[in-house]
Amino acid sequence: MTTQTRLAPLLLAATAVGFAATPIQADSSPDEAVKVQLQDYKATMQAFGKTLKGELQAAMKEGGPMAAIQVCNERAPEIAANMSAESGYTLRRTSLKPRATAPTDWERAVLEDFESRKASGTPVAEIAWHNVTKVDGEKQLRFMKAIGTEGVCLNCHGQNLDPKLKAEIDRLYPNDQATGFEKGDIRGAFSITAALED
Ligand code: HEC
Repeated sequence: MTTQTRLAPLLLAATAVGFAATPIQADSSPDEAVKVQLQDYKATMQAFGKTLKGELQAAMKEGGPMAAIQVCNERAPEIAANMSAESGYTLRRTSLKPRATAPTDWERAVLEDFESRKASGTPVAEIAWHNVTKVDGEKQLRFMKAIGTEGVCLNCHGQNLDPKLKAEIDRLYPNDQATGFEKGDIRGAFSITAALED
């Protein structure tokens, strides 16, 4: 082995250290980047929630829960997909007791943490979480926010569902776990992920 080849790994290591210094120096700006991107996440999430709830309430008023089920079944995934395409974020809703969308491992861990925060008295409306994680060398900003159960939700997520409605839910979702909720429970959470733009 020549001296040159023996030195090569050392030089590479030194270069890597040099590069590593860049993000460390810029440490205050990633914080700012997280703040800015989180604000955009929250706006996207609120728009999603508002659109969905608006369509749900309109359908409930017009045709009751049997008609509204179509909004949840078809429009909810559509709205999420459209908003994901527009924003470039991965936007979804999930739950520990899912009807359609089971959580990933990290989403499950966050949802379990949400349950313990609620159990120790934190109001559901205030329960949210975010972190920055490196996935395949890319920094991602993950964000989740708890969704509370309201009176109107009990039609389709409550304890004693109308038998016709229950049959339709079972037909559409043979593995449904999303019943038996009470008002004030955590029904699930919004989840948003994207590369961190810093
Ligand atoms: C008319 C029936 C109906 C009503 C009312 C309803 N949902 Fe749902 N919900 C559904 C259906 C159907 C799905 C599955 C949607 C899909 O296929 O993506 C669902 C899915 C969800 C999910 C996604 C996680 C999962 O379990 O797959 C959340 C969160 C959720 N609903 C919360 C709510 C909340 C909060 C309310 C009240 C504001 C509500 N729902 C009212 C029928 C309903």
